[in-house]
Amino acid sequence: MKERSSFTGGMGFVIASAGSAVGLGNLWRFPYLAAQYGGGIFIFVYIILALTFGFALMTTEIAIGRKTKLSPIAAYKTLDKRFGFLGYIAAIVPAVILPYYCVIGGWVLKYMTVFIAGDGTAAAGDSFFGEFVGGTASPLTFFAVFLIATTLIIILGVEKGIEKVSKILMPLLILMTIGISIYIFTIPGAGEGLKYYLLPDFSKFSLKTICAAMGQMFFSMSLAMGIMITYGSYAKDEISLTKSTNQIEIFDTIVALLAGLMVVPAVYIFSGEAGLESSGAGLMFITLPKVFAQMAAGKIIGALFFILVLFAALTSSISIMEAVVSMIMDKLKLSRKMSALLVLVWAVILGVPSSLGNGPWASIKLLGMDFLTFFDFLSNSVLMPLVALFTCILVGWVVGTDTIVGEATKNGERLGRKTLYEVIIKYIAPVLLVVILVFYTLAQFGIIKY
Ligand code: TRP
Repeated sequence: MKERSSFTGGMGFVIASAGSAVGLGNLWRFPYLAAQYGGGIFIFVYIILALTFGFALMTTEIAIGRKTKLSPIAAYKTLDKRFGFLGYIAAIVPAVILPYYCVIGGWVLKYMTVFIAGDGTAAAGDSFFGEFVGGTASPLTFFAVFLIATTLIIILGVEKGIEKVSKILMPLLILMTIGISIYIFTIPGAGEGLKYYLLPDFSKFSLKTICAAMGQMFFSMSLAMGIMITYGSYAKDEISLTKSTNQIEIFDTIVALLAGLMVVPAVYIFSGEAGLESSGAGLMFITLPKVFAQMAAGKIIGALFFILVLFAALTSSISIMEAVVSMIMDKLKLSRKMSALLVLVWAVILGVPSSLGNGPWASIKLLGMDFLTFFDFLSNSVLMPLVALFTCILVGWVVGTDTIVGEATKNGERLGRKTLYEVIIKYIAPVLLVVILVFYTLAQFGIIKY
């Protein structure tokens, strides 16, 4: 086996992990969930989860990776023979996410081309988004282009180049997000929206809020799918694991909060409270063009913005696909090219229904959901909580939290939240995860209403 390559220094590790973490999860998924689940209360719950459970799980995964220096499947097996299956469930997650991630990536691509062609004002029309995603040829074409681009980058092995470019574009994207948010505050009506976004309304709190926030946290921080184990296995022994974990978490959360700041208050301005209730996965694509349409140089700003989002989406789709491809290469002993082509076919099989489920196939439902919603649900609300649950059991009750704490603090770091860490991994998280899984199962089969 060739020597494991490693990141140069702590900052290199943080930048690489944050680059993988920041993507459509922050820019597309977080804002629409925040709008849907009561604004401030969702954010409040999200931040608490991130500081406690997110912190504990990320520390655990990075530590497992760095300690074992193995890929997820082998790492779980090494910690305890009976937990090898966990690696396989974890490995399925990116395979479920990739197809629909590329569908959304296609939407971003579509909006980018519309704005570059100077048709940004058309995109601000009320029915533009619905007509686009409801179609057949157009969304499928953009999905195909996005997916093929991702596959080609993987086959040609030019990820490094893309990552270099995105290191420049990412900060630009963040600056633009801040700029657009500031602009929105100058539009009359923004105050109400801001209040909705920031002030928690505890009457809107329910178990559903926790479920949604927890799934989002897994997705956004690339947790519970083996990814952070892989990244941890490349991390140098000298770097401070606790510091890196904090930095990745804080960075990822700030980008999500900023994206929400740009999208959620704008809903108030353009469609009022009713807009929030009807808001769904298309939120960002519906509101932002309306914001750009009001701006003096909106067409150019919109074009630039969607180019930057496309890059963020692409760097994430590359790492998601890479995770699946490298596993297939390992397990089936196939070449990189063959594995990538297999994954491409798989992504087409699941991606086509995910796209058509918004239009011609809208009447086909899986457990009451269209295909895209179903795959999103399956990964974020079923598989990831399962992986997280078994990871907590493995670490808390089989190998012991001391092993992980030892790995995380082996350079003399203090794990500031050490007791919290142990309590979360052993008790709080497993109980919460079981409650959520049971609740979801009962709700999906219509046994309880929510
Ligand atoms: N965290 C990424 C985002 O917020 C999405 C993602 C999910 C991901 N799984 C991944 C990224 C695996 C890299 C690798 O968009």
